[in-house]
Parts: sequence; C-alpha cells; structure tokens
Amino acid sequence: MIVGIESTAHTFGIGIADKGKILCNIKDSYTTESGGIIPMEAAAHHKEAADEVWKKALGEIGIGEKDIKAIAISNAPGLPPCLKEGLNFAKKKAKKLEIPVIPVNHCIAHLEIGRLTGAKDPVLLYASGANTQIIAYASGKYRVFGETLDIGIGNFIDNFARLIGIGFPGGPKVQKLAEKGEYIELPYSIKGMDVAFSGLLTNLKQKYEKEFKIEDLAYSLQETAFVMLVEASERALAHTGKKELLLGGGVACNKRLQEMCKIMCKERNCKFFVPENQFLLDNGGMIAYLGEIMWKKGIYVKNKEIDNLDINPRQRTDEVEVSWK
Ligand code: ATP
Ligand code: FE2
Repeated sequence: MIVGIESTAHTFGIGIADKGKILCNIKDSYTTESGGIIPMEAAAHHKEAADEVWKKALGEIGIGEKDIKAIAISNAPGLPPCLKEGLNFAKKKAKKLEIPVIPVNHCIAHLEIGRLTGAKDPVLLYASGANTQIIAYASGKYRVFGETLDIGIGNFIDNFARLIGIGFPGGPKVQKLAEKGEYIELPYSIKGMDVAFSGLLTNLKQKYEKEFKIEDLAYSLQETAFVMLVEASERALAHTGKKELLLGGGVACNKRLQEMCKIMCKERNCKFFVPENQFLLDNGGMIAYLGEIMWKKGIYVKNKEIDNLDINPRQRTDEVEVSWK
C-alpha cells in the first residue's frame, strides 16, 4: 500500500491507495473565523495534527506501518512552512520504516485524481486556492492553455470573504450568501484564454464600502468570475478539439460553477466530469493515488537518498515531466 501525505497549504491529509483504489482519506484542515490563512500558523497546525491523522488513517483500514511500501508526499508547489512540515514528517516515517519516498506535484495530483471519474482525455479546469488554469495533456506534459494573470480564483474569493469578515475558507460561505443575492454588473476580465481577478476584487471592495448588500456582491462575484472560467474552458475545448471537460481543485466544489460547466458542455456536445468533493479539496488520497502510479513506473527516491529531497514551492504544472503516462 502507498500512503500519500498532503500538507501544501491549509490541509494536513493522509490517504492510502492500493491497486488504483483509495482505501481511506483522512484530513484535518486549518480554518479561521474571520481572518485569512497565516502560513506559519497553518504549519503549526500540521505539526500538531500529523500523528493523529496518521493513526486514524491506518486505523480506519486496519493496517500496520509494516504494510506500507512507500510514502508519497506533495513537496511542490505550496506555502514553504507547510511544505517543510509535511516533508519532514514523511522523511521521519520513511526513515523509521526504511522505505522510499515519492515526491508528487500537488497540482498534477488534483488533475490525475480526475481519472476516477472515467474521463479519458479531458480539458481540465483547475480552479483552486492558489491556481486557476485550463490544462490539457499533450506529448509528455500537462500544457497550460489559459490561466489567471494575477491571483487564483479561490484566493480571490477568500480575499473577498476576508474583506467582509466571514473567515477562511470563503468559498462555501460565499456560495451560501449568493443564494439570496441579485445581479449587479461587475467588470469582466478575460484576454484570449487568460483571466484576471484583481480588478474585480477592487471593484467589489468599492461596492462593499458603498454598502451594497453582501448577498448581491456574493451572487454577482460568482456569476462574473465563473463565466470567465467557463468561457476560457470553452475556447480550450474548441481549440484542442477535445470532447471532455473535467473540473478539479477546491473551487470546483461550487454548485453554480458545476452547473454552468454542465450547461456549456451540453451545448457543445461534450461530456462533463467532476470528482466528489473529498477529492476536489486538498486531500491525501489524491497524493497516494498519483504516488502509486509513479511508484509502479519506478519514479521515486530511494530510502538512502531521501535526505537530498527538498521542497519546491514554485514548481509549475508544465515543468513536470509526466513520464508515467
Ligand atoms: P492549490 O491547489 O492551488 O495549491 P489550495 O490547495 O489552497 O490551492 P484547494 O484545497 O484545492 O486549494 O481549494 C481551496 C479553495 O477552494 C479555497 O480558496 C476555498 O475557498 C475554495 N472553495 C471550497 N469550497 C468552495 C465552494 N463551495 N465554492 C467556491 N470555492 C470553494
Ligand atoms: Fe490544492
């Protein structure tokens, strides 16, 4: 069995995979009541949560440490203090058990887990906290066809949530507020296949200061930002000639975004896929799942060499050689 550890940002998660199945997926996430994410605090959270999550994961499926063949760890990209905490924990366990470590790119794990839905060769709309990219696989790499030119969609929503004082993560709370809102026109920013959110954020801030209703702002935020993503995804489908759209990342949990994607796919005669929520938000299961695929292809760091393994906070999706496909 392969254990996967996730610790790149707000979540400390452990999943266990065997023969392409995820046997358990346990997590403990850092949240706040009103402020945003503070990296050092999130890292302290992970340090405290790690042993308990490890025990729970192994306990849930009734295995012992000796049943673990290797440990997959998402060592890139992410918040440096959080990445370090996870990597240290993975190394400590791997040394004790004398097993290899599989370094996994967090973003690619968000994408690969989509295979569970049955999607074969999709365009991926990766909408998470730090990332917003439209990606498709072509000759050995995940190529980025379009992306945000400033902040990720999730961070954008979380910034808005912090502004109005509803805490982190903001996405689910903004979705709830939006249910009672009405439409106000907001700036729409898409250039070719790229999108941008900072102008939209500034505009929302101005409207909030002018005492617009937060429900209306939340509704209009979703309608505007999500249409930008759907438009860029539709262009990518047209450009690549692919016939499937797959959603990934935490913001993909949003019901309105899912609905918009579904409608667009129906109109274009494409298939629409979205994994279940537990695999959209950061989780150890997706790290274990990709870790097992890489392990089978011999892509891992031997136990004797794990001291050389480091974090890579800024690694990009299209830098990774996808040699397991
Ligand atoms: P990355 O994968 O880019 O490193 P991350 O790991 O922080 O970012 P995820 O766990 O994939 O991100 O997603 C977290 C984000 O998802 C947060 O910004 C959160 O507000 C957002 N989110 C969660 N649920 C919803 C929802 N229902 N609607 C909109 N956004 C949501
Ligand atoms: Fe993520």
